[in-house]
Amino acid sequence: MFKYLNISFMNAESTNELVRILKAAKKERRSGDKRRNDFLQLLIDAAQNDNDYSESIQSQTLLDDDTIDAQSLLFLIAGYETSSTLLSFAIHILATKPEIQEKLRTHVQELTDGKEMSYELLSQLTYLEGFLLEVLRLYPPVARVDRVCTKTYILPGTSVQIDIGDVVAIPIYGIQKDPDIYPQPEEFIPERFIGEKKNRPSHLFLAFGAGPRNCIGLRFAMYSAKLSMVTLLKNFKFSVCPKTEDPIQFEKRGFLLKAEKGLWVRIDSLTSIV
Ligand code: HEM
Repeated sequence: MFKYLNISFMNAESTNELVRILKAAKKERRSGDKRRNDFLQLLIDAAQNDNDYSESIQSQTLLDDDTIDAQSLLFLIAGYETSSTLLSFAIHILATKPEIQEKLRTHVQELTDGKEMSYELLSQLTYLEGFLLEVLRLYPPVARVDRVCTKTYILPGTSVQIDIGDVVAIPIYGIQKDPDIYPQPEEFIPERFIGEKKNRPSHLFLAFGAGPRNCIGLRFAMYSAKLSMVTLLKNFKFSVCPKTEDPIQFEKRGFLLKAEKGLWVRIDSLTSIV
């Protein structure tokens, strides 16, 4: 219906501008003037190999230009908006829960002050990891994922049958607030994701999806979020302001989980406070 009614989740002007930039970049790369070590180059090279292969077997091109544009756009959308949504909700938690903010800042300072930042060092920040996963549990940027049924299945204990081809919506937001899985689901408890406690079946935490098509950027997203949090915590103090809303009202029609009126906090530089 969306296709026929010409309705899109995406802003047409921005999409067209991004496609224009992509086309120019592809032209430049294909002319052989410029090569870069990036995702677009990988797609261009794969399409070239695909073309050579297709010509040799006289079949259709598999990775055509529209697919390259779509995949590049998907990477931008899937990678940026999700990560910035996570950081926005994380900052909201810092502002509304000052005791957690202090605990997190002390934890970060104790483990990182005077040390050079590295993947290994960030991996040692277990409380920060628990904090971010708890933010993702309460506010999963992608609140629902879909799957297409490939095998007829009857929901246990019911007569509800899911047929091949049926689309099943998996309610991530709902599952992550189920008190049978996460007791006191409304409480913010980073310890749920630290030590032994985090050893629950992987399909019960779905902020990055599950299975062979889960989020390809999971590790990068966690790494960049940890790095951003370390920098933010060391330099700024977050507190509530008159416009801070708690609990948050969500936008009902958003593609990603989003606060209806935006997330507002007061930010002070730590250096100017001292
Ligand atoms: C906090 C940040 C992020 C969250 C919460 C998130 C969440 C998700 C979720 C829920 C899915 C669907 C998985 C499924 O259906 O099982 C997904 C897919 C995907 N994500 Fe992420 N993501 C994040 C960051 C990123 C980053 C940084 C990138 C790229 C650098 C990325 C690239 C992708 C791509 C390409 C897919 C589609 C994978 C496929 O269909 O095989 N994501 N993500």
